[in-house]
Amino acid sequence: MDSIEIEGGRPLHGEVTVSGSKNATLPQIAAALLAPGRSTFRNVPDLADIRTMGRLIANMGPLVSSDRGTLSIDATDLSNPEAPYELVKTMRASVLVLGPLVARCGRARVSLPGGCAIGARPIDQHLKALQALGARIELTHGYVEAQSDGRLRGGRVLFDLPTVTGTENLLMAAALADGETVLENCAREPEVVALAEALVSMGARIEGAGSSTIHIQGVAALRPLDRAVIPDRIEAGTLLAAAAITGGDVLVRGARAVDLEAAIAKLREAGAAITEEPAGLRCKAPARLDAVDFITAPFPGFPTDLQAQLMACLSVARGASRVVETVFENRFMHVQELARMGADIAVDGHTAVVRGVERLSGAPVMATDLRASASLVLAGLRAEGKTIVQRVYHLDRGYEGLEQKLAGLGARIRRIKA
Ligand code: EPU
Repeated sequence: MDSIEIEGGRPLHGEVTVSGSKNATLPQIAAALLAPGRSTFRNVPDLADIRTMGRLIANMGPLVSSDRGTLSIDATDLSNPEAPYELVKTMRASVLVLGPLVARCGRARVSLPGGCAIGARPIDQHLKALQALGARIELTHGYVEAQSDGRLRGGRVLFDLPTVTGTENLLMAAALADGETVLENCAREPEVVALAEALVSMGARIEGAGSSTIHIQGVAALRPLDRAVIPDRIEAGTLLAAAAITGGDVLVRGARAVDLEAAIAKLREAGAAITEEPAGLRCKAPARLDAVDFITAPFPGFPTDLQAQLMACLSVARGASRVVETVFENRFMHVQELARMGADIAVDGHTAVVRGVERLSGAPVMATDLRASASLVLAGLRAEGKTIVQRVYHLDRGYEGLEQKLAGLGARIRRIKA
């Protein structure tokens, strides 16, 4: 397994460009299943999760090919509407094929994703909502079997809590259902809005995406897509945090303030100057940040996917910060690893109290989650001496060429091939 070696202590300077969004690409690839014909996606990041989704789709019949950031899917043949455990277990977002498959084929067989390092992550809301549209759902042998006699029927869905992929699954299912669907208590993340826009470009009739109530008038057929993927707001936030933790000055090209308001507010409160420029967002940070409290919440709240990265920044801030994680029940696994680097963090349930220390010291570390791994890279950039981040395959699931991007900003960082 590859690892990443970092010699810390250098402020980052320069410009870096954000890649396309992983979590926007995944549902849009699933949406390609709704229409026979060839869909094309541009600005697709080269990531393990995207390749897994490509394999999952190809296994159902469609022809999938990719060439330097452009991905094509010809979904004319969809003869095997199944997502096997071997692929689903490596990527929970595989569940995004459920809605499109049952909407287009009238049946789907998708493995239940099972547990996950950051929490239980059930899919009960996806299933309940598909049932409200007339799907019959059975759980057998670890699989969700969904069936519908003819087209799904429009219906009313009130989600118990806002779920990103749940909202996305239902947008796709309802787009081809018969009649009107109203989804309430929807997730409002930019990736949900991007999917709705993609579906509208396919001929779907959707209103309200980005608010908590979405109306969908089902249509009889959709056409293939041709889209460029939006920039990755979590990668952008991670790069801003990299500038912040090192006391650097970095322009993150492609970063959009509308997607990152909560994170920008917290970085500013901590003393970093975040400015909007025509090309993106700039973070100019003091040598030491100030402590800030924050709480994760669904969009537009502070994203859980940036919690670990901001916590790394606060581990060397002046003063004590309180961090509350409300979205996932087990998303503090970076804490023990940061402690190995000298951080002073106490966890009690969903709350972490971070007492800023003056310096971190490099150490071998590892994490079992993508964003936790990113926070260890950030800590390594700040720490004195050498940090080796192991199990880099987690990072490779969601960050395209992170070490090259950071090296381009002056970090002493390299990948060690296993
Ligand atoms: N939940 C349920 N029942 C459901 C669905 C969700 O109880 O049927 C709970 C979850 O367990 C969690 C909360 O609702 O406590 C919110 O989960 P959500 O469904 O919104 O998460 P997700 O759709 O599975 C997406 C991202 C995650 C990101 C979360 C929260 C994708 C592919 N994944 O997951 O991204 O953390 O939203 O914003 O879009 C990552 O990229 O590292 C990542 C984990």
